[in-house]
Amino acid sequence: MIKHKKYNAVVTGLGMYFPEKILDNKYFEKIVETSDEWIRTRTGIIERRILENGATSDLATRAAQDLLQSAKVSPEEIDVIIVATVTPDMFFPATACLVQDNIGAKNAWGFDLSAACSGFLFAYQTGCALVESGKYKKVMVIGADKMSSITDYRDRNTCILFGDGAAAFLIEPTEDLNLGLQDSLLKVDGSGREALYMKGGGSLNPASHITVEKNLHYIYQDGKAVFKVAVKGMADISYDIMKKNNLKSEDIAYLVPHQANLRIIDATAERMGISKDKVMINIQKYGNTTAATIPSCVVEYYRAGKLKKGDKLILAAFGAGFTWGASYLIWAMD
Ligand code: UT7
Repeated sequence: MIKHKKYNAVVTGLGMYFPEKILDNKYFEKIVETSDEWIRTRTGIIERRILENGATSDLATRAAQDLLQSAKVSPEEIDVIIVATVTPDMFFPATACLVQDNIGAKNAWGFDLSAACSGFLFAYQTGCALVESGKYKKVMVIGADKMSSITDYRDRNTCILFGDGAAAFLIEPTEDLNLGLQDSLLKVDGSGREALYMKGGGSLNPASHITVEKNLHYIYQDGKAVFKVAVKGMADISYDIMKKNNLKSEDIAYLVPHQANLRIIDATAERMGISKDKVMINIQKYGNTTAATIPSCVVEYYRAGKLKKGDKLILAAFGAGFTWGASYLIWAMD
């Protein structure tokens, strides 16, 4: 924490959107060699949502509109829009530009941020830093991914894992330094790049009939390898941020983990000494929605009346890159 800073960044508004179409585990039994039992016990997922028409900007726009409506903020008031995503509508322009236009945020600038499953955590830290600088008053941070657009529904190793969705935080300054983001520990290690990636479509392997024939435009994951580093990475960094801030497990109202696999979440909670009732979970309903997992958990728990002002939260994620991290914040909304 910067000791002399004037402002802290607090979450003052929330929004989310999940498309209506549901794919349950039984559906996957029909298209690949799998079972409801295998998926539930190995991942914790029961169903996921799929956007049939439209793109990531449509998911992000719906989440942004939900935020504006529920926070009673007009689009002209938004200063910055940050969209965390690995499934942008296009390479350029940024999805943030499309959202800006869709919601009519005439006074905003913005950009996309690519950090896969840690995307929201990195975007949240970035948005908070802009607010803490004193220069920006209303920053919208959106995690949005249409994972179905890069999922190979013939590959049982990956197709059962992912879903589509979006969720958003509005971040504003406060002079009460005992509220809002208190600390973040964020990491990247590019030596893990080949464990989880999309090989085709970028400048390394530009789209061609060959990249399409080789299925390079889909998610590739070495699940076992990622599982091992994710368990250690997310558990260690969550434990480290507790220790660094002198937090005991009983001080923490909720762990808000990235929702990739219930077994990774359980291992993190165990390392932190946190009981299951203090862990936000929605993986059973949505699967892994990449940048949308953490904010959607917060939105759902807040709207269910389970979060109160002063609650101490640890957000934690691990994803492709590798990217990982944890943030410690004190909840500011009544
Ligand atoms: O969110 C970003 C970061 N990503 C993650 O954190 C994901 C990390 N990885 C995982 O969550 C897990 O590794 C998976 C859920 C992807 C896989 O679970 P696992 O327990 O690690 O399974 P595995 O990869 O070790 O595979 C065990 C067996 C294999 O069969 P053999 O070789 O033992 O005969 C797989 O072929 O399970 C098989 N398998 C399946 N069986 C039924 C893999 N996928 C399926 C499936 N249904 N869908």
